Amino acid sequence: MKNKSIISLKDISKDELMYLMKRAKEVKEGKYGNFLEGKIISSLFFEPSTRTRLSFHSAVKRAGGDIIGFASAGSSSTKKGESLGDTIKTVSGYCDLIVMRHHVEGAARRASDVTDLPIINAGDGANQHPTQTFLDIFTMLEKKENLDGLNIGLMGDLKYSRTIHSLLVALSFFGVRLYFISPEALAIPERYTDYLDDINVEYEVYKDFKECGKDLDFLYCTRIQKERFYDPVEYESVAGSYIIDKEGLSYLDEETYIMHPLPRVDEIAVEVDEDQRAIYFEQAHNGVPVRQALIGLLLGIIK
Ligand code: CP
Repeated sequence: MKNKSIISLKDISKDELMYLMKRAKEVKEGKYGNFLEGKIISSLFFEPSTRTRLSFHSAVKRAGGDIIGFASAGSSSTKKGESLGDTIKTVSGYCDLIVMRHHVEGAARRASDVTDLPIINAGDGANQHPTQTFLDIFTMLEKKENLDGLNIGLMGDLKYSRTIHSLLVALSFFGVRLYFISPEALAIPERYTDYLDDINVEYEVYKDFKECGKDLDFLYCTRIQKERFYDPVEYESVAGSYIIDKEGLSYLDEETYIMHPLPRVDEIAVEVDEDQRAIYFEQAHNGVPVRQALIGLLLGIIK
């Protein structure tokens, strides 16, 4: 994976994904030490973030590297009208690798076209969020050694959620059955079901997790993202349309793990956090070793 840009899950093979998972496990076990010493990573966040940005920062600092950048477009020269291309060409002279989040779909691909440095897409609009998927799969593999044959529920904003759009591609590498659970207005876009049909991945569609919860090994829940709606009326019509609370837990199997990329709003009640099936904070914390391993591989330091 040396020098590769990570823009979309569709650029990654199953072998590469599993290789990354193995190296991330070794990083988590403390095998590599200060392997980023002398390296500078740029962290360019044109859109808000807590987990992705700070776990990248933690990942770099814990491995002995330096990280520079900005947390919002408003604190960069984008505010003065600088183009994305010019920003990327400029920053390329300051670092060894660029992590970038942007609200525009395709922005990460555009960035990778104007630099020879590896670009990591930390989320581009409603399109892709590959490193979230890497930590999601890593977390699933910590709970179940093999994902083949598992039933995985993907619930919530299936239309606009980049975490779902990336994750379903990675899950398609394994012999899983997918359960899409959402209000009709937020159904998974046809381009993704066409993709699944083409590669013979089986899926079912539900409006309520209570109809299929007992069958699931993982229920991956997402936030209904107000910021992705053009029409506030459309948002209001679907906001709060599903909630996992203590009562909702009774519709899941005793071994159904509950995941969420976070942040959450009201889709998982705080009372669920104490349940042994709730693994979303564990999931968020796995962002550090997984992102460390990815940076190490892209810079050719981890082989
Ligand atoms: N999961 C995720 O991308 O969270 P942030 O928006 O806080 O980075």
